[in-house]
Amino acid sequence: MCGIIGIVSREAVADRLIDGLKRLEYRGYDSAGIATIHDGIMDRRRAPGKLVNLAREVAAHPLPGAIGIAHTRWATHGAPTTGNAHPHATANVCLVHNGIIENFKPLRAEVIAAGCHLESDTDSEVVAHLIELALARGASPDEAVAQTLDRLHGAFSFAILFKQHPGLLYGARRGSPLVVGQGDGEMFLGSDALGLAPFTSRIAYLEEGDWVRLSADDVTIFDAAGGRVERPFITSSASAAVIEKGNHRHYMEKEIHEQPIVVAQTLGAYVDPLAETVALPAMPFDLASVKRVQIVGCGSALLAGQVATYWIEALARVPTSIENASEYRYRDPVYEEGGLCLFISQSGETADTLAALRHAKAGGQMVAAVVNVDTSTMARETQLLLPTHAGPEVGVASTKAFTCQLAVLAAFAIALGKAKGRVPAAEEARLVQLLEQVPAAMNAALGAEADILALAPALSRARDILYVGRGPDYPMALEGALKLKEISYIHAEGYAAGELKHGPIALIDEHVPVIVIAPSGPRFDKTVSNMQEVMARGGRVVLLSDAAGVAAHGAGTTAAITLPTVDPFISPLVTAVPVQLLAYHVAVAKGTDVDQPRNLAKSVTVE
Ligand code: F6R
Repeated sequence: MCGIIGIVSREAVADRLIDGLKRLEYRGYDSAGIATIHDGIMDRRRAPGKLVNLAREVAAHPLPGAIGIAHTRWATHGAPTTGNAHPHATANVCLVHNGIIENFKPLRAEVIAAGCHLESDTDSEVVAHLIELALARGASPDEAVAQTLDRLHGAFSFAILFKQHPGLLYGARRGSPLVVGQGDGEMFLGSDALGLAPFTSRIAYLEEGDWVRLSADDVTIFDAAGGRVERPFITSSASAAVIEKGNHRHYMEKEIHEQPIVVAQTLGAYVDPLAETVALPAMPFDLASVKRVQIVGCGSALLAGQVATYWIEALARVPTSIENASEYRYRDPVYEEGGLCLFISQSGETADTLAALRHAKAGGQMVAAVVNVDTSTMARETQLLLPTHAGPEVGVASTKAFTCQLAVLAAFAIALGKAKGRVPAAEEARLVQLLEQVPAAMNAALGAEADILALAPALSRARDILYVGRGPDYPMALEGALKLKEISYIHAEGYAAGELKHGPIALIDEHVPVIVIAPSGPRFDKTVSNMQEVMARGGRVVLLSDAAGVAAHGAGTTAAITLPTVDPFISPLVTAVPVQLLAYHVAVAKGTDVDQPRNLAKSVTVE
């Protein structure tokens, strides 16, 4: 993954490069680095760990220079050390890279054989040497960049400096995003428009295979074949505002608490409360012709999709499957006429999901995407964009984007049901009324925070925790386990409650807490039976249910968390809140870095 930024200007760039990196840190935070050219030298500062370490280093050893590049890293090749931090430099070339060079091993052998000395374990450094070797053969910077790009397999974006050309900044993109920003007498490169938002809103998106030469006043873009091309500059809506935590200790806590508002905002775009109808954006295809839905995503987005499979099949009676984006295109999926592929992504940049979207589009499927970042690649490439209005999500663990995805998917299921003649007006009105109850119910669910907080210290001492649920509560169990493991580092698994007795029940003893998600409804009794099976084996149960469920079966559990009573249709949106709070408070009790947990990044732009 990684975030990259570059500036060619007439004024000092170091502070602004670091400001831009702050806005790209969601892409990785294993190490960071910056390079500028000044006084005839290429000068670097690099530091392992989060950006704050680099900022300290630059404050201690300032970097002058009116041209520079910078990088925040999510490690792929090589440990997150200073030596592996970008920028990587040779005598005359310095670059930052986002992506993976798949053929780096033969290229590495080639540059070593040519006498180059490699300082790092990264695939990226090899590219700097290839460019240096091209210069040594007499190539101009343009030629050296073009020749080197031709040699690379894999996904990448680059920002590149040449010591002998302190007025030129090069960029290239294939597979990983890169935007060009136009300022007043200065130019920018960035992984996204958000990183450049404090400096300019005039943005051009490079296309696959493009590379670009920037000077303070000029932009020259080339396509993969080396021909000059124009890419339109548009005014980006990315906000320059710094997102604050307010009174919250962490962004994740803030984002959990924002949910009633942002889910209401999102529903507002899909639901007409007066007419009691749902309305999707203008349709590029006929929903009534949809014969099959494949929902594709990664992580929490995939799990939001899994909840939606229940809604879509129940309301529209259209066969619906979920597909792990990283597996999807490699198993050569069957595309049929009437197939709709629905992609879900907060960032709109996740490499696996994006590649799957392109595969489905090329395969002639109808393509829709539920995306939070409306300037993202997926938002631009999908046929039907179904935006979530969660606002910027900073915490690495997805919370408000997840529930906004659920809100859009619920509305989509109703709309598809309507288009298929399965949801009559009276049923649509009933479902819309239920959706209208969601923000207040989420607010009420936040009221369970004190009870969850009280449980956290004991749970934080567990080595393993299981989550179980049935129906749509099964993906919610998976989501609970995912959230817990990513921010607390406690091993957690989610199971369909009925599946426990087919193996996982062997794990149960008094040391393995089991979180049972069982709101009242058609599956309640069956889930409670599975809960009793756990308790009969000495398991410690935390029951998440409503007042009736807790009254009926709270006795004998270690703890029972009472949630508002809601219709089963909207219960996943409500259950999400205690599931998130539980992960959050356990992580806080363990003292982990909640917003930036180890080894993760907010946007996963490598396969
Ligand atoms: C989990 C989480 C990740 C993301 C996944 C997909 O809390 O945040 O699992 O859901 O990486 O990211 P997007 O939605 O940006 O495609």
